[in-house]
Amino acid sequence: MNAVWMKVPVFDHLQYVRASDLIASERSALSNGWTPRSWRDKPGRQMPQYADLGKLAAVEQILSQYPPLVFASEARSLKAELGRVAEGEAFLLQGGDCAESFAEFHPDKIRDTLRVLLQMAVILTFGSGLPVVKVGRVAGQFAKPRSAEMESIGGVSLPSYRGDIINGSDFDEASRTPDPTRMIQAYNQSTATLNLLRAFAQGSYASLHNLRQWNFGFVDQSPLAERYETLAGRLDEALEFMGACGAAGQTGSVLRETEIFTSHEALLLPYEQAMTRIDGDTGDWYDVSGHLLWIGDRTREIDGAHVEFLRGVKNPLGLKCGPSLEPDDLIRLIDVLDPHGEPGRLTLIVRMGADNVRRKLPPLLRRVREAGRVVVWVCDPMHGNTVTSRSGYKTRSFDRILSEVSDFFDVHRAEGTHPGGVHFEMTGEDVTECMGGAQSITDEALSLRYQTAVDPRLNASQALELAFLIAETSRSQRMAGKQFSTNRRPFRTNRVSHQ
Ligand code: PEP
Ligand code: CO
Repeated sequence: MNAVWMKVPVFDHLQYVRASDLIASERSALSNGWTPRSWRDKPGRQMPQYADLGKLAAVEQILSQYPPLVFASEARSLKAELGRVAEGEAFLLQGGDCAESFAEFHPDKIRDTLRVLLQMAVILTFGSGLPVVKVGRVAGQFAKPRSAEMESIGGVSLPSYRGDIINGSDFDEASRTPDPTRMIQAYNQSTATLNLLRAFAQGSYASLHNLRQWNFGFVDQSPLAERYETLAGRLDEALEFMGACGAAGQTGSVLRETEIFTSHEALLLPYEQAMTRIDGDTGDWYDVSGHLLWIGDRTREIDGAHVEFLRGVKNPLGLKCGPSLEPDDLIRLIDVLDPHGEPGRLTLIVRMGADNVRRKLPPLLRRVREAGRVVVWVCDPMHGNTVTSRSGYKTRSFDRILSEVSDFFDVHRAEGTHPGGVHFEMTGEDVTECMGGAQSITDEALSLRYQTAVDPRLNASQALELAFLIAETSRSQRMAGKQFSTNRRPFRTNRVSHQ
């Protein structure tokens, strides 16, 4: 019998089996030749070359013994909720930092990001009239794909910064050298972050009764304050009404508590493999480093290591869809990543850029519909709209972000499909990284509080403004009485081999 990785009597779902404890025949029998390490035989892009392979192996061994960050049963709940999103019965809000950082690890920062996520969720719930599934880019979002291998400053060339789980952002050789022990620090930071998030979500902090206390000083002074106040007033009335007619008793815990799921790009595969275990309840493999794992736009080639790794774990998956993705290639990827057409398994995160959505999205929607596949369609209006400002900052314009979201909604309306959600890079802090918005951040103002180590994020005020605008669009589509079709056709059950 397999060795049990860990068992705590109170939580039966804490039974996990170590990959190394499976005998070879069991491993290859699992699924089309997939094993937690089968990605190693495929070309793997965007991963570091570690100089000391012995040190790397030792870190992987240590991590493989550590407790899971999330439970398989939680990943299944998220999948079930995403299944409802795919059916047009819920909306997904996914957001958080571009990259978490070791240096900026602080409880206030986690709280503030959570607060914006909760505020956006309330605004979107009111607007869409649908339950909002909340997924943070958090507690594991450390590894970054980069467009250039090397960075050159003043004639000196060093490896690019790839996120704190891999190397440091300081421009010197020691910092830029990939160090496997950073994976342990990323694991520890993720554990502490998740612990705080769970406490906030289940304690009174996330209670809808606290909507007014979630406010930020700097949002108070912006033109958004009035809209937010109106919303809070309407919510208070609704809560009072529910209290008066006794409904609050039944829904009390729903109003007081919330559920936050975690997600990150599964880029650094040695880390992800070390965090992959068999769930004792179902016998399935789960990557227990986060609830939802996604494949980036730069690592989605069908024969590559990232697709190979993620096809074998049972977590809900995300797939970034950029402008170079052709409809037939998308179908091939869906066949590999979701061979059984499981509801909620696959979320397609569309990041075309404001100029491309109207042209590039309809062929994808149609091809997926023709193939009878049911997926969650989400708009990431950040990654296709990154530019360098005149003063030299990597930035994004609020107007173009909004334009991509709005086109995404329009295209879905025209095609009769459900615009399932949005994916943002944002922070609870008052940074000046994206231009525009109600605060009218100009190119000159970017230098005031430009803090990101990688991509420019929306600040809290910009994030809330966007949520209000999306809520309005969603409401007007709902008022127009448009029914979303989820294209449910009998699904082909042939299992597609990726070998
Ligand atoms: C990201 O989400 O941080 C990212 C790098 O996205 P993409 O793969 O879409 O470029
Ligand atoms: Co990014």
